[in-house]
Amino acid sequence: MVEAQRFLSDIARAAPVVPPAAPVPVTFNFDQGIPSAETFPIAELDHLHSDVLKRDGARALEYVSLDVDGPGDRIVYGNTGYSELILGSLHLRRELARWLGDRNARPDLGPDNLIITCGSVQAIALAINALVNPGDGVLVEAATFPYALRYAKMRGADIRPVAIDQDGLDPDALEARLREMADAGVVPKLLYIVATFQLPTCVSTSEPRRRRILELADKYDFLIIEDNIYGDLRYHGEPIPTLLSMDTAGRVLQSHGFSKTVAPALRIGWMTGPEDLISGMGSVRQDLGISLWMCRAMAQFVSSGGFDKQIERANDVYRRKLDVAVSAVREHCAPWVTFEVPEGGFYLWIKLSDQVDWQEVRRRSAQGGVAFRPGERFMIDTAADAGAGYLRLAYSHVDDDELRRGIAILGQALRDSAIK
Ligand SMILES: Cc1ncc(COP(=O)(O)O)c(C=O)c1O
Repeated sequence: MVEAQRFLSDIARAAPVVPPAAPVPVTFNFDQGIPSAETFPIAELDHLHSDVLKRDGARALEYVSLDVDGPGDRIVYGNTGYSELILGSLHLRRELARWLGDRNARPDLGPDNLIITCGSVQAIALAINALVNPGDGVLVEAATFPYALRYAKMRGADIRPVAIDQDGLDPDALEARLREMADAGVVPKLLYIVATFQLPTCVSTSEPRRRRILELADKYDFLIIEDNIYGDLRYHGEPIPTLLSMDTAGRVLQSHGFSKTVAPALRIGWMTGPEDLISGMGSVRQDLGISLWMCRAMAQFVSSGGFDKQIERANDVYRRKLDVAVSAVREHCAPWVTFEVPEGGFYLWIKLSDQVDWQEVRRRSAQGGVAFRPGERFMIDTAADAGAGYLRLAYSHVDDDELRRGIAILGQALRDSAIK
């Protein structure tokens, strides 16, 4: 047998994907931040998809729409056809441009400001590929979405973590990093930020800080990817204006999608931003787009107001789950943990007291069938220590009763790991 590993390209070797396997079977899975099946609008998706087939017939099953450049069913790969292969369904881009325009006070947005992708994760990957050259500086929150890091690594970016606290990304720390990069001759190309209900901490960057970040983007001349995948999952408190809504200089790209509020299996996400940057992302795209059938169905969902109603329904479910998780942690895990109750998102970011042995907590929890994600797994290498002693507890998809029982086991593991 040949040794397959040695055939892998540098890119494939750059960052392995698969996390370590759980040492014992997992009964209480607080590890993955996935949506609750309770929120999936199954009947509505069923109707939408069959209605589109009945209404549009074969047109819904082509590579490109045949009914947007004019009447008739001839396959003509005109301008619209080609741009649909690259940017995705014009129907969905039109509807989303309107929806995003309303939500972000950006009536200027049109279909050419959007690219539809296979989940928002592809949007992030395309943006990084379109913008970053090897050696360019990519700034990220000190704890962040591992896939974004992975894509930046694959491009050979010079990745710099920026500290976050209860108010989100710290602009002073950002400026310090930018100066450090200037001294080292590194071009700051991009800040990737989950500004609302950040992963893994669930904190949101405050409005004044967002303003400062945009000022710094002007001063040091870089672009921003605002990952807004958790942006609509707000259960308490007032929304904070998005970076996209505050962007007057054309520096912000915002990634978003249907995964967290509708269903991840749709694999429909998008990036919104300045036309030239969106078309740059199209230039590095290597597939032929996302199912037009599904996109037509989702266009209908957005235009009928179904998407807005769905967001409200999903938020009702998550508000309840957040309450269950918070009460259970308070009941079973005090006094060994501290945490802030987030206003939205999928996670509790829990700091363990130094009166418990962290490794022992992990071992005992795993023995009890409880899985959660250790904080250091979200940190970029140089910041790994900052995550030690934190755990991310994803409560979003877990049944209420399992939440209570699993958190009770975690509480027992904490008690048994107390340093005597
Ligand atoms: C911060 C963040 N961004 C993006 C994604 C990707 O979501 P999708 O590709 O399903 O839109 C996730 C999924 O967990 C996430 O946590």
